[in-house]
Amino acid sequence: MMNFENLLVEIVDGIATVTINRPKALNALNEQTLGELQSAFSHFAEDDAVQVIIITGSGEKAFVAGADIAAMQPLSALQARTFAKLGHQVMRHIEACPKPVIAAVNGFALGGGCELALGCDIRLVSDNARFGQPEVNLGVIPGFGGTQRLSRLVGKGLAMELVLTGDMIDAGEAYRIGLANKVIVQADLLDAAKAMAAKIISKGPLAVRLAKEAIRNGLEMDLDKANQYEAELFGLCFASKEQKEGMLAFLEKRPANFSGE
Ligand code: CAA
Repeated sequence: MMNFENLLVEIVDGIATVTINRPKALNALNEQTLGELQSAFSHFAEDDAVQVIIITGSGEKAFVAGADIAAMQPLSALQARTFAKLGHQVMRHIEACPKPVIAAVNGFALGGGCELALGCDIRLVSDNARFGQPEVNLGVIPGFGGTQRLSRLVGKGLAMELVLTGDMIDAGEAYRIGLANKVIVQADLLDAAKAMAAKIISKGPLAVRLAKEAIRNGLEMDLDKANQYEAELFGLCFASKEQKEGMLAFLEKRPANFSGE
C-alpha cells in the first residue's frame, strides 16, 4: 500500500509510526523524502485506520540532521527557492493534518529536522536529543519555516539566539524553553510516544480533531476572532453523539464509551 524508499510506515491500533530512514545521511531530508512525507500524510488524512501519527528517525543518533546538504550545495537561487517551498508545503501539510502528530525526537534535530519537529503538534524527545538551526554555519538561513515557527513557539529572543549563533541545545535546555514537551530515556521514547497516542485515541475523536483545529487556526487570528472561532467549534461538539455520551457518562459516574459499541 505505502511503499517508500526513505520512509518506513507501520500502522497498528490506530497509530501510524513513520520512520525517516536514511541512516547514512543521518536521515537528512532530500526532495524524495519530502515528497514521500507529503504522500504519506495525504494518505493518513483519509485513512480511518489512522488516528494519531508519530514521526521518528531511524537509528539511535539522529531524528533528522537537516535538509540534505549534498543535494543543496549545487542549487541555483531559483532551485533553492523551490526546495524551500517544497519543505514549507510538507510542514504545512503535517501541521494541517486533521489527526494529531507527535514527533519522537530520537537524536539530532538540526535545521530541517528541527523544522520538521516544529511542524508536529507535540515533541517528545530522547535524553540524547539535540536541537539547533545551524544554517548560518553553511551561509544560509533556515528554509523550512524555522525562522517563523521557532519564534512562535519559544519567543523572539530565544529564536534569534538559536538562529543567529547556530548553537545546538541539549534535551534539557529544549525542555526548559518549551521546545520539548517531555524528555524520555531513549530506550523508552517510542513506547512513551505510543502511550500518549493511545491516550489521545481513547478520548472523543471529534473533540480531539476540533481541539487541534481550534489551537492551530486560532493562533493565526486576533483574540476576539479566535474566541468566536472557539465558540463555533465548541457548539459543533454538541452536534455529536460523543458529547451526549461523554457528559452522560460523567453524570452516571461511569467511563465514557466513545466507540459506540
Ligand atoms: N545532509 C547531508 N548529509 C548529512 C547531513 C545533512 N544535513 N548531516 C549529516 N550528514 C551525513 C554526513 O555527511 C556523513 O556522511 P558520510 O559518512 O558520507 O561522510 C554522515 O551523515 C554522518 O555524519 P557525520 O560524520 O558528520 O557525523 P558526526 O557524528 O560527526 O556529526 C552532526 C553529526 C553534528 C549532526 C553533523 O553530521 C552535522 O553537523 N550535520 C549537519 C547539520 C546541519 O547543518 N543541518 C542543517 C542543514 S541545512 C538545512 O536544514 C536548511 C533548511 O532549513 C531547509
